[in-house]
Amino acid sequence: MLDAVLRKGQTLDGAASFARDLSPPDRALALAIAGETLRRLPDLDTLVDGATRQRLPDDSKARMALRLALAQAIGLGTPAHAVVATALPLVDGGPRRLVHGVLGTLLRRGLPQSGAPRLPEQVEQRWRQSWGDSVVEAARRQIAKRPALDLTFVDAAAAAAFASANDGRSLAQRQVRVQSASVTELPGFGEGGWWVQDLAASLPARLIPSDASEVLDLCAAPGGKTMQLAAAGHRVTAVDASGNRLRRLRENLDRTHLDAELVTADALSWRPDGQFDAILLDAPCSATGTFRRHPEVLYRARPAIIASSAELQATLLARAAAWLKPGGSLVYAVCSLEAQEGEEIVTAFLANERKFKIEAPAPGEFPEFLQPAEQGWVRILPGLLEEQGGLDGFFIARLVRTG
Ligand SMILES: C[S@@+](CC[C@H](N)C(=O)[O-])C[C@H]1O[C@@H](n2cnc3c(N)ncnc32)[C@H](O)[C@@H]1O
Repeated sequence: MLDAVLRKGQTLDGAASFARDLSPPDRALALAIAGETLRRLPDLDTLVDGATRQRLPDDSKARMALRLALAQAIGLGTPAHAVVATALPLVDGGPRRLVHGVLGTLLRRGLPQSGAPRLPEQVEQRWRQSWGDSVVEAARRQIAKRPALDLTFVDAAAAAAFASANDGRSLAQRQVRVQSASVTELPGFGEGGWWVQDLAASLPARLIPSDASEVLDLCAAPGGKTMQLAAAGHRVTAVDASGNRLRRLRENLDRTHLDAELVTADALSWRPDGQFDAILLDAPCSATGTFRRHPEVLYRARPAIIASSAELQATLLARAAAWLKPGGSLVYAVCSLEAQEGEEIVTAFLANERKFKIEAPAPGEFPEFLQPAEQGWVRILPGLLEEQGGLDGFFIARLVRTG
């Protein structure tokens, strides 16, 4: 799994297919070890390098076995004897002796209890430059923690009742935060009254004006935001290029008894028959804002990938702008912590499109703890609401067509 993620750029969810033949507990353990290794990789490699005379190649079996062993010892609390006993069979001959020796040395020295692992160097540099030291420190703390679980509800009264019955906390309308638990064990899972959605991911749809009748949800699947828009009473057209992801969107709508018109199409060539009152563009992006649940995004989001994703975002935004009625709102969002995919896209858009201006969230539209930037957009960074379980990183801007 780690090889597929680190060398081939797969997602951890995608790479999890390697573990599909394992029993459920073994599969869960394999995923936990892979996740923990990715959360702590720079620190694990520093430990390994500090105990070897010659630097082991990045993709050598010995380094991989050591990473897995150390991730378990530091992150999962696995006892030393079990760490050694499960690492050694992964390598043969000379590498096995090396792994045995290095693990022995490190375990004798005593392993650090790292509650705030370093992120990959390139990511830290970029974020330090964009957001400052304190955000990098907060991101380090957050990558080691289990994020809270947020649910979005179809019905506001049901959310309030659920919060009080289940020791949850409502941080926004129709939203409840619970301490991480098994989703399927939460009451009402089968009934479709709620779905899992990070609070940050639920914010863009909240900026669609309630009186907008026809709403386009562009790049919609798997549909957390489509469900929000449908639950708020809009007539929703949901477009996505991925047929598989749209099938999940259909299942989600069926489960929650909500409706939308689904279109499988590439937004770079598709065009609608008419214009919309409002458009939500939740653009494909590097997804670095989701690093708490998907630590591999930090390795996948190389500068070239961020640049090509920014180019796609700019094109999608310009196309969507042409499909909006005068007076309508276009909400642009990305779950990214890269200014290149957020602030820079919207700044360039406004410089080109004289008929658009930013409209900041009005009081009451967003939870009070969120303050828009002076430019009117909303930037969610690591560190926000940290004590209460944090938020995914996001960038959100509402662009209103003035003429
Ligand atoms: C950030 S995800 C959307 C998440 C979704 N809005 C939600 O709330 O569940 C981005 C989506 O864009 C879709 N996508 C990527 N390129 C696209 C394109 N050229 N046209 C249409 N959809 C595209 C992907 O299939 C993916 O589902």
